[in-house]
This record gives sequence, C-alpha cells and structure tokens, in this order.
Amino acid sequence: MAGTARRPLLAANWKMNPLSAADAVALSRGVLPAATRHAERVDVALFPPFCWLPAVAAELEGRPVGLGAQDCFWERSGAFTGEVSAAMLAGWCGWVIAGHSERRTHFGETDEQVARKAAAALAAGLGVIVCVGEREDQLEAGETERVVGAQLAAALRVVEPAGAGRLVVAYEPVWAIGTGRNAEPSQAGATMALVRRGLDAALGAEAAAQVRVLYGGSVSAANVASYVGLEVCDGCLVGGASLRAEEFSTMIGTIGAVPR
Ligand code: PGA
Repeated sequence: MAGTARRPLLAANWKMNPLSAADAVALSRGVLPAATRHAERVDVALFPPFCWLPAVAAELEGRPVGLGAQDCFWERSGAFTGEVSAAMLAGWCGWVIAGHSERRTHFGETDEQVARKAAAALAAGLGVIVCVGEREDQLEAGETERVVGAQLAAALRVVEPAGAGRLVVAYEPVWAIGTGRNAEPSQAGATMALVRRGLDAALGAEAAAQVRVLYGGSVSAANVASYVGLEVCDGCLVGGASLRAEEFSTMIGTIGAVPR
C-alpha cells in the first residue's frame, strides 16, 4: 500500500450473519466510531445480507461508511425467483461483491456468470469487489497463476477502463477463508502482483492504477498489518473478524496508521 495514491479499503463481508436486523444495526453502530475517526485515511464498507440492507443503510445515513450487498443478479428485472438485481440494489447501497468463493463453491457460479454480475453492477453505477482465488488442490498442483489469471481475465473482459475506479479485486485463496490459516504475506503478495499485472495488461496502466487489490482469507487484527504493509495490497476483505465490532475497529485503526 505504501506509496500508492489509492485509498485503502477495509470491507466487512458478514456472510449469512447476524440473525436479526437489531443485531445488524448494533454491529454497524459498533464500527462507526473507528470508521469515522479514520475516514480521511481509510474507506470502510459493510456487506450485510440483503434483508438487513435497509436497516443498516438507515444507521449509516450521513456517515462515512460504505454499504454493499454480497451478490447480485445480472438481469435488471423479470421472472427470476429469489434473485435481486444490481439495479434494485443501487437504491440501497453503493457496492456489491461478485464471485465470492462460497458462491462459486456452493452455488456453482462460473467465471462467466461472475463477469456478468460484475458488468451488471458497474452498469448500475455500483462499485464491485470481484473475488478471485485458488482452491487448496489447485495451490498444491501449482495452478494458482492459471486459476487466478483465468478468473481475473473473465471479469476484466466486461470492464471498460472508465469503470476502473469502481472496480476492486479481492485475492482470497479458498483454503484461507474461514480456516484461520491465512496466506503468508509474501505468497499473497506474489499473487496480488500477478493480479496487478493482469489489470495493467487489460485496462492500461492509467485505468489499472485506479483499481484496488485486496487480500482476504482469515484476516484478523493480529495479521492485518502484514498485508496492508505490502506495496501491492490496498486493503482487506474480512469475514469472521468483521462480525466482532471491536476487532474490526482495531483493524480500521491499524490501516489508518500505515504510512502512505
Ligand atoms: P474470513 O472470510 O475472513 O472469515 O476468512 C473472508 C471472506 O470470505 O471474504
């Protein structure tokens, strides 16, 4: 992160938590003091489940904290039972996640579907965090570069350089998500550098320079500094630890203190 003009981003992926609107509001309220204190240096965005978006949006009104959804559908409206479109989300929030590994694994999302979601999000005026990352068997087979390269290339086929400022790529090795087994910073950094080279090649250096690249996978207050201290890392996408307001607030402060 050192020396870049990109603002660091700390994104909280709450996944299918918490169980009530009241708890979602309480969690957002818990991170507001730290997010407000460090707003000049760190972008913070919360990603609750769809159903808590209105309540959290009301809580965040006028505060310097972004709000996003964890997924979207690529069609605008129509007979797609259970789906929520990017156009609908644009009324509630400014961000969406596309292609989280849990969606790829549990719901069979393909690189092409993730790209369509990213395209729909950008077309709706949202910022989008596209997630990429290899599985453990792919890591062991030495396929990280191929897998991440293909995931990234599919997403970048739909991104115009003009949309680059609203694009974020999160490198999240699947084996590091929710396992407590975070990637070695040097190893994560090497793959993030690969992502950055892919961005440069696809978008051109000027547009690519606007795209933030995050690390995700068992990020905690104890290890966040080792990622955001890397030149190639513009922040983190946090799952489990983002459900603990105090720990997440500590992480905001840590990022705010990193020299840039
Ligand atoms: P984790 O999740 O921080 O719990 O590993 C990260 C993510 O899934 O985005």
